[in-house]
Amino acid sequence: MTRRIRIIGIGAGNPGHMTVQAIDALNACDVLFIPLKGEEKAFLADLRRAICDRFIRGASPRLLEFAVPKRRDDGDYGAGVTDWHRAIAAIYEDMLLGEVGADETVGLLVWGDPMLYDSTIRIVEHVRDRGRVAFDYDVIPGITSLQALCASHRIPLNRIGLPVEITTGRRLSEGWPPGTHDVAVMLDGVQAFETVNDPDAIIHWGAYLGTPMEITLSGPLSDIAGTISETRKAARAEHGWVMDTYLIRRPVEAAEGAEGGA
Ligand SMILES: C[S@@+](CC[C@H](N)C(=O)[O-])C[C@H]1O[C@@H](n2cnc3c(N)ncnc32)[C@H](O)[C@@H]1O
Repeated sequence: MTRRIRIIGIGAGNPGHMTVQAIDALNACDVLFIPLKGEEKAFLADLRRAICDRFIRGASPRLLEFAVPKRRDDGDYGAGVTDWHRAIAAIYEDMLLGEVGADETVGLLVWGDPMLYDSTIRIVEHVRDRGRVAFDYDVIPGITSLQALCASHRIPLNRIGLPVEITTGRRLSEGWPPGTHDVAVMLDGVQAFETVNDPDAIIHWGAYLGTPMEITLSGPLSDIAGTISETRKAARAEHGWVMDTYLIRRPVEAAEGAEGGA
């Protein structure tokens, strides 16, 4: 008899992204831990409700809400993130010990897929390392925002035989990554695509992918960078939050010769 955690990828915003495996895992949960955070929380709450209403077959699991602590950003980024994960791990630990029966199953619903720019697995590992509460856990894959982006643009992620680098807006703004011609960008609060100065680059951009608010734009980066920035700004003003991701492709020769922010 042991507690169990199921880390369930729920897809990138469309309830239809739920896989059969995710639906089965959701139905095996006695409890769901629900983080409250971010400007998009009303949308997330609606999506979660839509998923539960549509896919839960029997009794609804108990919903245990918790406020996600704020990450400090007063210096060392890595140390700030580690402390933040530890703080969330402590909350999970308290909830597991105080509110979850020894033979119950907890679900953690993760946006997209848990392996892509998400720390739920790391946080659950922290809880395990602390050693105060015993549990097993597993991970159920989900549709990522990058899959949703490629599907909406009807493109493959990679060109034939070529690698793709997945990175953040902050990193791209520091320079084009060496050794790749195709870069997929997530978590971009700085509109890093504006720093890529290549007249032959192509961008495929998408915001709110998979949701009724979805917007996609694609074309030569130098032609549409301004339109993307304006569209993003207007959408953010309208909805109060924005989530976007994009793929930039550069000609092979140009990217090979490029350095820094080129
Ligand atoms: C913390 S990461 C989570 C990624 C998620 N685990 C996944 O599999 O897509 C959040 C970033 O994913 C991207 N993202 C997630 N959902 C999105 C969506 N529906 N439309 C556009 N971008 C999305 C954005 O770049 C956002 O800043």
